[in-house]
Amino acid sequence: MKKILVYQRLERPVLQELQIKYDVRFFNDPNPLSNREFVSFLQEADGIIGLELEVNKTLLDHAPNLKVVSNVSVGYNNLDIEELTKRNIMATNTPGVLTDTVADMAMGLMLAVARRIPELDQFVKSRQWTQSLTEEQYGTDVHHKVLGIIGMGRIGQAIAQRARFGFDMEILYHSRTPKPEAEAKYDATYCTLDELLQQSDFVCLITPLTKETEGMIGKREFQLMKPSAIFINASRGKTVVESDLIAALKEGQIKAAGLDVFTKEPIEPDNELLDLPNVVTLPHIGSSTYETELAMSRLAAENLEAALNGQRPKNLINP
Ligand code: DGY
Repeated sequence: MKKILVYQRLERPVLQELQIKYDVRFFNDPNPLSNREFVSFLQEADGIIGLELEVNKTLLDHAPNLKVVSNVSVGYNNLDIEELTKRNIMATNTPGVLTDTVADMAMGLMLAVARRIPELDQFVKSRQWTQSLTEEQYGTDVHHKVLGIIGMGRIGQAIAQRARFGFDMEILYHSRTPKPEAEAKYDATYCTLDELLQQSDFVCLITPLTKETEGMIGKREFQLMKPSAIFINASRGKTVVESDLIAALKEGQIKAAGLDVFTKEPIEPDNELLDLPNVVTLPHIGSSTYETELAMSRLAAENLEAALNGQRPKNLINP
């Protein structure tokens, strides 16, 4: 029976289906290589499926039998693709099925920050709403503002669609290459990164984390943004220099931020972002709905099984 290592997350019905056909073991340790049982199962594992397991040379040296690593996520910054390819191990991800869900969340963050929804929810629930609101509690409009999207892939375009047609926003975007089709569809304008930062009321970061994008938004970039800008990060925490974001928020270089992702996840309790009133924080819930998590788990399992059966998986990442 083939051995499948499940890491962190796989929806129960999919896990149960795999358990019928394979020898399946579930692990959840933050430092899995220090768990002897994990290392011993890894020695014989044919496949890995799960979320955010750091698959690098050190881990692969303990996995001589491995044929496939199937990520239950669209992002695959946790995988050393070069090393996997060198060892003829297939790597897969789950694009497409989470696009709309992540885009909904990004719009939700924009609205939550701009209209101060979590803060005012607390105001009501703490029984402080005893007379009419004061001007200090007003929010700022989202509709008809300028939205700058950094990363115009599937999710970036789904955000553009919502913002353009749901909220009448003007769309600026920056990506590695211009996307003429997206420009036509969403009336979007391609900009350099600096132009986008200078002109946008909302800056939404939705680019994958790669060597090129790591730390792409830092002190200089925050200084270019409007003091009234709202910054949204729905990509990966490491695309931003977090200490520079904290400084920008404290010093009023930007107005506020909505963050689904952080440099370290789960966030450290002493992270200053948790104490800033102009920040809305979420626990990386971009794709976390019942429907989408199940669809991602199913797609990841299909990819895993295709690879184990010697077929080309639908979402193969290796070049
Ligand atoms: C992804 O799929 O990459 C999302 O961030 C959820 O993990």
